[in-house]
Amino acid sequence: MKQKTAIVTGITGQDGSYLAELLLSKNYKVIGAKRRTSSFNTERVDHLFNDENFKLEFFDLNDVGSMYRLLQNHRPDEFYNIAAQSHVRVSFDIPENTVDGIAMGTLRILEAIRNVLPTCRFYQASSSEMFGDNPNYPYDEESRMTPASPYACATLFAHNLVRNYRESYGIFVCSGILFNHESPRRGETFVTRKITLAAARIKLGLQDTLYLGNLEAKRDWGYAADYVEAMWSMLQQEKPDDYVIATGQTNSVREFLETVFEHAGLDIKEHVKFDERLLRPHEVPYLLGDPSKAKEKLKWECKTTFDDLAKLMYEADLDYITKTELNKGE
Ligand code: NAP
Ligand code: GDD
Repeated sequence: MKQKTAIVTGITGQDGSYLAELLLSKNYKVIGAKRRTSSFNTERVDHLFNDENFKLEFFDLNDVGSMYRLLQNHRPDEFYNIAAQSHVRVSFDIPENTVDGIAMGTLRILEAIRNVLPTCRFYQASSSEMFGDNPNYPYDEESRMTPASPYACATLFAHNLVRNYRESYGIFVCSGILFNHESPRRGETFVTRKITLAAARIKLGLQDTLYLGNLEAKRDWGYAADYVEAMWSMLQQEKPDDYVIATGQTNSVREFLETVFEHAGLDIKEHVKFDERLLRPHEVPYLLGDPSKAKEKLKWECKTTFDDLAKLMYEADLDYITKTELNKGE
């Protein structure tokens, strides 16, 4: 069988690294598309550099020429667009940059695919944030979307665009409406990783206090390594479609904190303080997904429980901080 080629944008991020591993395990040639940064930031994919099927190329969501060049040079079978300024709070601080990358960036890629390589299958990273503050949960593919941040508004624009291009031009384009998914590779400023990193540092005597914002927000939290399997599966179906990818369970930030601190043997009252600067101008209070369609059509289910996720992230950070901060210089 002919070897398939996939382009993965956002390769230096959490999902990019897990997706690249999954595709390489299926014998794909993977072109990881990264933007230029002034410091090294490839640590999540450094272990893949010796794989002959893995290659990095420069790309930017704001640079249309890079999209045409990647499509023309590599003629990919599949294109996964998972690049974004993905931090919801930060999108209130740099709204134009966030929105241009997600909304216009997606439009640029879709136009390039339509014009250069319409046979290429396309995956778009949509988000549960699009449901915003709609009080009627659980959310499925048909639920009303009332986005509550510049990030979510841009994601909804891109989501609608994907549907529009699918209907207008008959190209194979899909959106995965993914609920929060975490891992030891999660960015350090997202709440789960912030908690597991701090717990590890506190346990090792390297930190005393963890500052957090709203502890009552609820999220449907799954494991990123499980979620990239759903991305791949969407592009293997007979027909393109959009899918909610979630666990079907929701927990508060407080419950995540309690699970981690209890597992670490730490006292929340002693170490955790509230910082109002971490509140958001418009909070999304409650996210709960209904993944029935993915279960039926993709045969996909999240395999990792909330408790296991919290514990595996804490254990990984304990190991990481021990190696990088405690035993530094030894
Ligand atoms: P992440 O760790 O923040 O990674 C984002 C990636 O996008 C990084 O590689 C980043 O590069 C890249 N990027 C940012 N701006 C770019 C630009 N202008 N041009 C090119 N690349 C750019 O995010 P993630 O957690 O892996 O999530 C992957 C995607 O899924 C994102 O689109 C996110 O919005 C979406 N999503 C995530 C979740 C979740 O819970 N994780 C849920 C739903 C949807 P640098 O390393 O240079 O910053
Ligand atoms: N980041 C952060 N830092 N969040 C905090 C903190 C804190 O110190 N304290 C409380 N929170 C609360 C936030 O107010 C929010 O309600 C919740 O923790 C989760 O915040 P994040 O971990 O930053 O994730 P998110 O839900 O806003 O967004 C993530 O999930 C989306 C899918 O629903 C990101 O990965 C998005 O890119 C993704 O689309």
